[in-house]
Amino acid sequence: MKGIVLAGGSGTRMHPITRAVSKQLLPVYDKPMIYYPLSTLMLAGLRDILIITTPQDKDQFVRLLGDGAQFGINLSYAAQPEPNGLATAFLIGAEHIGADTAALVLGDNIFYGHGLGARLSAAAQLTSGALLFGYRVRDPHRYGIAELGADGALLAIEEKPSQPKSNLAITGLYFYDHDVVEIARSLTPSARGELEITDLNNVYVRRGAARLEDLGRGTAWLDTGTEDSLLAASQFVQVLEQRQGVQIACLEEVALVSGFIDAAQAYRLGEAQGNSNYGAHVMAVAQAYRAGG
Ligand code: DAU
Repeated sequence: MKGIVLAGGSGTRMHPITRAVSKQLLPVYDKPMIYYPLSTLMLAGLRDILIITTPQDKDQFVRLLGDGAQFGINLSYAAQPEPNGLATAFLIGAEHIGADTAALVLGDNIFYGHGLGARLSAAAQLTSGALLFGYRVRDPHRYGIAELGADGALLAIEEKPSQPKSNLAITGLYFYDHDVVEIARSLTPSARGELEITDLNNVYVRRGAARLEDLGRGTAWLDTGTEDSLLAASQFVQVLEQRQGVQIACLEEVALVSGFIDAAQAYRLGEAQGNSNYGAHVMAVAQAYRAGG
């Protein structure tokens, strides 16, 4: 399965913060936002990942993450000239996907929870249809929202409904079979001029090929689309990291535990960032790993 992180968009909802810098490079507490969705795909076991950015922000993402070799993965980059919809990720990424299946994560979505890695690895085994993840929210009008039948079956998805039929939001993490490219090509722009991921998902729903897994209360799903949700996400990460001494979305650590790199390599990556708490954590994890293994 190939991965895509969609990290473009105009960021106008957060001007002036995002006037000169991509939203997905803003800090969520102690690391750039894109670390979180990228770690999600890595936890799913994906090692071939395309990062889609605006043309003007691309160089900064390359400066931050390079070709991924340091994490034992393969990162490539593509530009989205205009923010004309989430589903365009599969047009831009068609070549990257090739004959494979694909997972898309939105660059501003943060997932965290016990057992998430196993759940994501299972999702990456998908061979047919679509696998979506739902999450109960208090403000359903802000998201793609599931309409469920009496038996809990997924009947349809509505994008930002004014009268939501449930409070189960479709999160920004999607797993698809290879048909996704053809389906994306068949879409027409919505009233707001975008190729909508919700329209794409509804094609799978109508085919009876979409599965919706509720992430449940044990997982945190945070989006960072407004200044308030960005601050809340930073506070969430700060509280957990300080209380438990863990790091959320530490790419070196994810690469190490996933077996993409070894402890010596992880240690060197930590050392290179040794002046920061993040770097110190990477070194400590690598040392403990070496001692334990
Ligand atoms: O966060 C989950 C929600 O994401 C879903 O529940 C919705 O169904 C889905 O439409 C989307 O809603 P948003 O209103 O959050 O989408 P937004 O336009 O804010 O875009 C999400 C991210 O994707 C954001 O970081 C910017 C980036 N983006 C967006 C568009 C439209 C792109 O990179 N390119 C684009 O063309």
